Amino acid sequence: TAPACTLVIFGAAGDLTKRLLMPALYNLASDGLLADGLKIVGVDHNDRTSEQWRDDLSQTMQSFTEDHTSEFHPDSIDPGHWGFIRERLTFTKGDFEAAETYRRLARDIGGNAIFYLAVSARFFGPVVDQLGAAGLLKEGEGAFRRVVIEKPFGTDLASARALNARILNQADESQVFRIDHFLGKETVQSILALRFANAMLEPIWNARHIDHVQITAAETIGVEQRGGFYEPTGALRDMVPNHLFQLLSMVAMEPPGSFDAEDIRNEKARILEAVRPATPDRAVRGQYAPGEEQGNAVRGYREEADVSADSRTETYAALTLTIDNPRWAGVPFYLRTGKRLTGRLTEIAVHFKPPSHGLFAGTALAPNVMHLHIDPDQGLSTQWNAKRPGPDMRLGAVTSSVRFGDFFAEAPSVGYETLIYDCMVGDPTLFQRADAIEAGWAAVDPLIQAWRDAPVETYAAGSDGPAGAEALLARDGRAWLPLA
Ligand code: BG6
Repeated sequence: TAPACTLVIFGAAGDLTKRLLMPALYNLASDGLLADGLKIVGVDHNDRTSEQWRDDLSQTMQSFTEDHTSEFHPDSIDPGHWGFIRERLTFTKGDFEAAETYRRLARDIGGNAIFYLAVSARFFGPVVDQLGAAGLLKEGEGAFRRVVIEKPFGTDLASARALNARILNQADESQVFRIDHFLGKETVQSILALRFANAMLEPIWNARHIDHVQITAAETIGVEQRGGFYEPTGALRDMVPNHLFQLLSMVAMEPPGSFDAEDIRNEKARILEAVRPATPDRAVRGQYAPGEEQGNAVRGYREEADVSADSRTETYAALTLTIDNPRWAGVPFYLRTGKRLTGRLTEIAVHFKPPSHGLFAGTALAPNVMHLHIDPDQGLSTQWNAKRPGPDMRLGAVTSSVRFGDFFAEAPSVGYETLIYDCMVGDPTLFQRADAIEAGWAAVDPLIQAWRDAPVETYAAGSDGPAGAEALLARDGRAWLPLA
């Protein structure tokens, strides 16, 4: 059980609170991991009573039982477990930028507290300043005070540095928990287990045996109702220095000395620092035009709500990266992400080099590719060459695959359970340290600068992305794996 604390959620009326935080808290309650002494205080600027907030959330929780598009869709909500959360909820109306809000919190809160910033990024700095000014971040008499910060953490290297400095002016690094929800995914955490708990991968996990790595996060959905956020953000900032770099660091990092949070975070920061800054000539940006999604006509990005009719924001980004260390010398890492693509697929595909000598020299062999399936499939699959039955030695490609769900009965989580629990117990392993965030931004900063006034290629909604992305790999004599 996690220690008792007050969890203060800024942005209590928002989407993240409803869709992810409450289901995660409910799952933690179901597993008996929450302390009786837990209190949950919601802060937001609109009028409502605690009872109204509880009712709203109860209704949303209930709606998940019918909504199968959500990752959280239990058959029913257990009244006991939800009751445990519900009776701990209180709401307080407050302006995120007004000192009065924090004076009130300071009067009410004693002991351990977590301040969860489920708010728009422009409030991160102001909320932390106010928490600091009200004395709410002072840890005393064995009580902890922690701040959880969502993404996007900055918009480029300079702003991320400034935000880190501002936050670290009020709190110690050990109090700051920067979230990247990809780290809450079981399949992402599992990469370390695959690499380091098995004897056969680590010896070949290097430039001598690996030809290249493809990291893909493809979505079929468009920007939906998030045009206002997405317009100034774009696919690169939204996905690359954070989510895709989590995948890259898990797959590329050196083995940590131990499972200690700092050992792991040191290696993750080190590998990101070894990424050579991306260059515009090895990167492509695209924007979806009208097209089709599962047989239905869908509009282009420029027609979406809150998007400018002549927008040049990218909804697709692909880039080639290299890592300057002995393990990965000369191995390209190809990253791509986009919306309104032909398939929903998050995966890492590790392409091995062909056998260097021997019997099959001169034969066209299917490449050995190991796929680490992150989403929606969860598991791994590997492509091999085998002998086709028959009198001749003829080869054919075969695949072996593993679905984790076939082996483990644990109920799938929404991904925030581990993160919230870890924050309560004070384990920062799955959170982003300031140096890793800055290293991530540093690696893409040349693209952010170059793309400010750059044109954007278009691609039809429901396609594989812009033609330039194919060309990016073709010039290295390689090709992307299919998305569907
Ligand atoms: C979010 C991005 O951080 O991650 C979204 O802002 C994106 O644009 C989402 O759709 C993808 O996450 P997941 O878990 O659905 O792959």
